[in-house]
Amino acid sequence: MAKKLTDKVTWVGKVDWELKKFHGEEYSTQKGSSYNSYLIRDKKTVLIDTVWQPFDKEFVSRLKQEIDLKEIDYIIANHGEIDHSGALTELLREIPNTPVYCTVKGAQILKGHYHEDWNFVTVKTGDTLDIGENKLIFIEAPMLHWPDSMFTYMTGENILFSNDAFGQHFATESLYNDKIDNGELYAEALKYYANILTPFSALVIKKIQEILKFNLPVDLICPSHGIIWKDNPLQIVEQYMKWADAYQENQITIIYDTMWNATRKMAEAIAAGIREADKSITVKIFNSSKEDKNDVITEIFCSKAILIGSPTVNNGYLHSLGGLLEMVKGLKFKKKSAAAFGSYGWSGEAVKQLNEELNKCGFQVIDEGHRALWVPDEEELTQCREYGKKFVESL
Ligand code: FEO
Repeated sequence: MAKKLTDKVTWVGKVDWELKKFHGEEYSTQKGSSYNSYLIRDKKTVLIDTVWQPFDKEFVSRLKQEIDLKEIDYIIANHGEIDHSGALTELLREIPNTPVYCTVKGAQILKGHYHEDWNFVTVKTGDTLDIGENKLIFIEAPMLHWPDSMFTYMTGENILFSNDAFGQHFATESLYNDKIDNGELYAEALKYYANILTPFSALVIKKIQEILKFNLPVDLICPSHGIIWKDNPLQIVEQYMKWADAYQENQITIIYDTMWNATRKMAEAIAAGIREADKSITVKIFNSSKEDKNDVITEIFCSKAILIGSPTVNNGYLHSLGGLLEMVKGLKFKKKSAAAFGSYGWSGEAVKQLNEELNKCGFQVIDEGHRALWVPDEEELTQCREYGKKFVESL
């Protein structure tokens, strides 16, 4: 159902309550998501973004209840990914000549996805579109998080349509940030930043600084996923500046996998040693084969250091850590320390291999790691506690 934001702007998106995985299996969305689309009615009528493809017919049919499609003068495609452009084919089948405003890269991506020669109008930063009483100003945001990404700012109403930036995968019937539990909201915004935007942090800082220089008043930040930032909308911009600056808390996260609990016992003893060394540090322990990968990555994002543990099996480490480390590598975390540990019976290569992977992930690997032969006895557990203490001291 459409929801009015201001006299001129109406939300016409789709709340997807049952979405549990996004980007294939890459991102868990336990709280669902939404695909926010916005209809602007000034002297001209403008549609900003659409919804994910499975909802294309529903989207167009609901849009028809709100407006005669022929009244739409312009479509703005801030981003070509299918969760926002997925209903364009269905929509443009009905209004085929409507101009689609996007970046040069956006036009390439939309052509690559849908193989249609739509009426593209390409724009760049600073270009404006007069829509009557107000104007739309386009701001390119390349690699936030695709090459084509763009923001659109509406004067008069002072709205920043930021597409993926400042979003959260969070299904809710409440439109605004002051109408929901802020703990839940920030947990989802943090997970979204940690898992999607971390590799582009330097660009996030640069882009925010560039936008702030325009000194544009901002009454609403309308992302394309989740809630709209209405109460103190710039709070999420300030938070992004903190997250983008090699964010870390006083936390050490221990992530392990285990076959017969020997490596688990090591993990717990190392954690005890860390706590003995410094009670102010938050220590969290996760079994990578049992935890949600995106939640673990969010914990890594919040940590100043991590320890990764695995027994040696078939001359390597357990596969749940392989998958996790591959994701971590792509996220390019900065200024975090790490080390590896694990039990072994004979060859014992896992710890060395894990350290090599941590190095490739960009962590500062503090030493050669710690191994224990077979199942750790009391003496070995004491050594693990000592290793935990030493790890803290080396940070
Ligand atoms: Fe990059 Fe929400 O799509």
